[in-house]
Amino acid sequence: MSTKIWIDVNLLTMVEGDKPFGLLEDAALVTNNKQIVWVGHKSNLPDHFVGEIIYCKGSYLSPGLIDCHTHLIYGGNRIDEFEKRLTGASYEEIAAAGGGILSTVEATRAASEDDLVRTAQKRLAAFMKEGVTTIEIKSGYGLDIVNEIKMLRAARKLGNISGIDVIPTFLGAHALPPEYSGDRTGYIKLIIEEMLPIIAKEQLADAVDGFCENIGFTHQEMEQIFTAATKLGFKLKLHAEQLSDQKGATLAAKFNALSADHLEYLSTDSILEMKKSGTVAVLLPGAYYTLRDTIIPPVEKLRSAQVPIAIGSDCNPGSSPVLSLKLMINMATTLFRLSPEEALAGVTRNAAKALGLDDRGILKKGLKADMVLWDIEHPAELSYQIGGDQTLMVIKDGDVTFARNKYKSGQN
Ligand code: NIG
Ligand code: FE
Repeated sequence: MSTKIWIDVNLLTMVEGDKPFGLLEDAALVTNNKQIVWVGHKSNLPDHFVGEIIYCKGSYLSPGLIDCHTHLIYGGNRIDEFEKRLTGASYEEIAAAGGGILSTVEATRAASEDDLVRTAQKRLAAFMKEGVTTIEIKSGYGLDIVNEIKMLRAARKLGNISGIDVIPTFLGAHALPPEYSGDRTGYIKLIIEEMLPIIAKEQLADAVDGFCENIGFTHQEMEQIFTAATKLGFKLKLHAEQLSDQKGATLAAKFNALSADHLEYLSTDSILEMKKSGTVAVLLPGAYYTLRDTIIPPVEKLRSAQVPIAIGSDCNPGSSPVLSLKLMINMATTLFRLSPEEALAGVTRNAAKALGLDDRGILKKGLKADMVLWDIEHPAELSYQIGGDQTLMVIKDGDVTFARNKYKSGQN
């Protein structure tokens, strides 16, 4: 049946400027095929809707979760590096010794496209089970034409197989590949003259990202890449101010990038630039936690400048081996002091903004029917609880793609 009527439900619409969480109690919501077609109080539900009725018994329905920053596709793992960090080595030291990102590049180059799909599929399943209905996936472990394309094709395949929306991002400027050691200019040229045009032509990525850092690429190098990417019509994103202040966020703002991500070392000037350009601040508590960082992003300043804040998992084998966006909601509150409402907006409304998607992220008539039904008694319980299973039902494009047992048999 193409029409579904969700009833006896509390809606976390996440519509801004409304009540906290855009809360609508004792509500109803109607979907038709892939769209939300009606939202309101149960008492106002028009009686012309005919469809499957889903009684939610006072559970909470939110927009589907959106993970706007991941490196979900990669070969191998970095357990050895994890153990080295436990005994005192830093992320930068490991990278300088040729480990870190480059060790994943080696394993990713050795893997076939199917290997990459298979290993990433398991990780994706963990995100989906919790309620993720849209996920961004970056390349950046291939670092040559063949292998970057292999990663982006694997991302596309994952989207087709999983049924959720995979948004691919090209991250050629992630690290300098070994064959270009000593020839930074040559690698930038390869990105600009060969990689970007072919990725644009084959429509393999929506956005272009880079790692603007002293162990990554400089402000000027990123500026050259952004100039070329803009001409080809790509949206932009940037790993900025994770380990030091390179004024990457200012660069991102200058190019009207969708987002600047990480931001532990973000300066006040850059915040004002981000506000002007509408660039979203994507915070990644999993990387902060894993690297045992001690500087938190300037949340209070972002808040008072009204820069939208999104939260991502940064799922990657090195700095954030995280397979739970739910845990990031908790960490965003506990580690970064976001309010529970800000944290949920970070993985719904603002995560959609960080990907330039205006058809999702809130519960509103006309938007996509991507939703999660939660087994909670208060909206803040989504941030408060660590672990456990709060997901009752996941709805993607109007179809129930996951349901806990009591909802499976339709015994409402
Ligand atoms: O977002 N900082 C750069 N990129 C990733 C880490 C990638 C890796 O260590 O493999 C990040 O933290
Ligand atoms: Fe990242």
